[in-house]
Amino acid sequence: MCGIVGYIGTQAATEILLSGLERLEYRGYDSAGVATVLEGELHCVRAKGKLYNLREKIQRDVNPSQIGIGHTRWATHGKPEEHNAHPHLDMARQVAVVQNGIVENYQEIREELIGKGHQFSSETDTEVIPHLIAECLANSATSLLEGVQQAIARLEGAFAIAVISADHPNELVVARQQAPLILGFGQGEFFCASDITAVIPHTHTILSLENGEMARLTPLGVEIYSFAGERLLKFPRTLDWNPTQVEKQGFRHYMLKEIYEQPDVVRTCLESYLNPNWHAQENPDFSPITLSLAPRLYENLEYVQILACGTSWHASLIGKYLLEQLAGIPTTVDYASEFRYSPRPIIPNTLTIGVTQSGETADTLAALEMERERRASLEPKLQARLLGITNRPESTLAQIVDQIINTQAGIEIGVAATKTFLAQAIGFYFLALDLAYRRKTLSNERIENIIDGLRHIPAQIEKILETQESYIEELAHEFTETQDFIFVGRGINFPIALEGALKLKEISYIHAEGYPAGEMKHGPIALLDSKVPVVAIAMPGSVYDKVLSNAQEAKARDARLIGVTSAMNAQEATSTFDDLLTVPEIEELISPILAVVPLQLLAYHIAAIKGLDVDQPRNLAKSVTVE
Ligand code: M6R
Repeated sequence: MCGIVGYIGTQAATEILLSGLERLEYRGYDSAGVATVLEGELHCVRAKGKLYNLREKIQRDVNPSQIGIGHTRWATHGKPEEHNAHPHLDMARQVAVVQNGIVENYQEIREELIGKGHQFSSETDTEVIPHLIAECLANSATSLLEGVQQAIARLEGAFAIAVISADHPNELVVARQQAPLILGFGQGEFFCASDITAVIPHTHTILSLENGEMARLTPLGVEIYSFAGERLLKFPRTLDWNPTQVEKQGFRHYMLKEIYEQPDVVRTCLESYLNPNWHAQENPDFSPITLSLAPRLYENLEYVQILACGTSWHASLIGKYLLEQLAGIPTTVDYASEFRYSPRPIIPNTLTIGVTQSGETADTLAALEMERERRASLEPKLQARLLGITNRPESTLAQIVDQIINTQAGIEIGVAATKTFLAQAIGFYFLALDLAYRRKTLSNERIENIIDGLRHIPAQIEKILETQESYIEELAHEFTETQDFIFVGRGINFPIALEGALKLKEISYIHAEGYPAGEMKHGPIALLDSKVPVVAIAMPGSVYDKVLSNAQEAKARDARLIGVTSAMNAQEATSTFDDLLTVPEIEELISPILAVVPLQLLAYHIAAIKGLDVDQPRNLAKSVTVE
C-alpha cells in the first residue's frame, strides 16, 4: 500500500522517479508527488488522482536535480487531496519525507509539536515525520542520518520512509519498520523503493532492508545501519528477473494478460515440482513431488493452520480441502486479520502456512510473527513451523518463515489476483500430494492419477481461453446494469464461488456474494428474483446433482441461472441453466483450477465493458501493507 521510490546518482532524478512510480502505481493511486533538491532548495510537486496528473504538472518544469523521492498514495489518514499527498515537508521546507505505513501515535506527536509552534498543512499521520526530523536537525551538529534516527525512535506503528533535505543535497536516508523497502545498486547511482518493480529497468542488484534497519545513500555508495546506529555489513543479491513480466505485451489490461499467462504458470510449476522420473510402480521410495520440504516441517504432523487474506484465503480453502481429503491432516484456514486478535489454542506438531501473493500483506506477516513468538519458549513439539506460499520469494514473507514454496507465478500487476490464485492452489495440490505420499494416505496409483490430471491443466486452460472468451465477452454485455450477483458452489468448488464473487465485485463494483450452494435456502434465497443472476459452479462429481437441485431452487424464484460445468455435461445442463460456461472434462478434485477461469473472464469483461479501471479499481491496492 502506497509506493515509495528514491534516487541519487548522476542522472536527472525526476523522470526516474516518475517511471518508478508508474511501476508502483498498483500499490495506490489516489495522489502522487515527487521532491528533489536543487540549488539548496527543496522542490516538491504533488497532484491529486492518478500519476498522469502529476506527470502533466511536472512536464512544465525542467529540473536537473540528481536526487529525489517520490510517492504514490493509498489514503489512510486524510482524504485523497493534493494537500494530503506526499512528499510532506517541515515548515521551513528543509526536509521532505515519503512514507508507506501508518504512524499510530501521530496524534500525540502532532499535539506536542503544535505546542512547540509547529503548523501542519495536511491531515496525514506522515506529516509529523518531517517536522520531527527538522526539530532534531535544529542542532547543527546532527547529521541527516542521526536526525532521522532520533525522529523514528519516537514513531510507533509501521513505516518505510525516504528522506531528503535541502541542507544535505548529497544524501538520501531511508528506514524500514514493518513495511517493505528495497535498495537498488547501479553504477554510481542508487535507488530505494517499496518494490523491485520500480528499479528493475535500472538495476538487478538488490538488497531488501529488514525491520529496524536504515540506510544512507550517497553518490558514492550505501551504508546500512540498525536503528540503534550500529553499522551493518550486508550484501546485495542479483535478481534473475524477466522485465517483460511488468509489461502489458499488447493486452488491453494487465489482468487479461495475467489470465492468459495461467497455462504457462502451471507449466512452470509442474516442471519445478514434479519429479519427472517418478512412476507409481517403480519408485515407492521417494516422493513424486520435489518441494524439498525440510523434514522438521512435516514430521509427526498433527495439524495445519493456514493464514491468509482475500483471494489467498480462497486458495487456502482449496488447500484445506486437499490437505484433509488427500493427506488426512486436520486443517483450519483463518483470516490473518482475525487470527492476530483471537489465535487458536496451541496444538502440538502444527504446521502454520502463510499464503500471500505479495508476500507483504501486513496482517498475514504479523499473524505469522505472532505465531512464532507465542510458541518460541515452549517445548519443541509446540514450537512454530512456518511455511510460506508465495510468488514473491524475495518478499518480507521469506524473512519470517522457515521455508517458502515459490508458486512460480512471477509478479502480478493487476490488483485483482488471477494467476497468483491459480498458482497458490497448484502449490496446495503439490503440498497435499507430498504429505499424502509421506503419510501413506493415498496409494501411489492414486497419486499418479492425480498428477496425470494436473499435467493436462495447461492445455485445458488454453482451450477455455480459446473457446470461451468471445462468448463470455458477449454475455458480459447483458450484465452491465446488474446490481447483484450470487455465486454458489459446494465442496472443493465452494471457494470458487467466493473467488468468482470477489473478482466481480472488486473490478466491476457489482455487489456479489458467494455461498455454499446448500446454504442458499437458509437465508440468501430471499434475495432472489429475476434481477439477480445466480452463477452455479456445477462440476461433475460427488456434489453435482446437489448443486443442480440448488440451482433449480433459484430458478423457481425467477433467477437467471449461469452454470459453470464440464463440456461433457453441457447437454444435460442446458435444461437447467440459461447460460453455460463450459470447461473441458476434468476430475472433480482438480476442477476448481478450471472452473475459476471463466469467472475471471466474466468479471474482467463486465468491468471492461463498463469502462472501469480494471487494473486499478477504486479504493484498492495490490499490496496491503497496513493493518
Ligand atoms: O498479497 P496477498 O495475497 O496477501 O493479498 C491478499 C488480498 O489483499 C488480495 O488477495 C485481494 O483480496 C485481491 N485484490 C483479490 O483479487
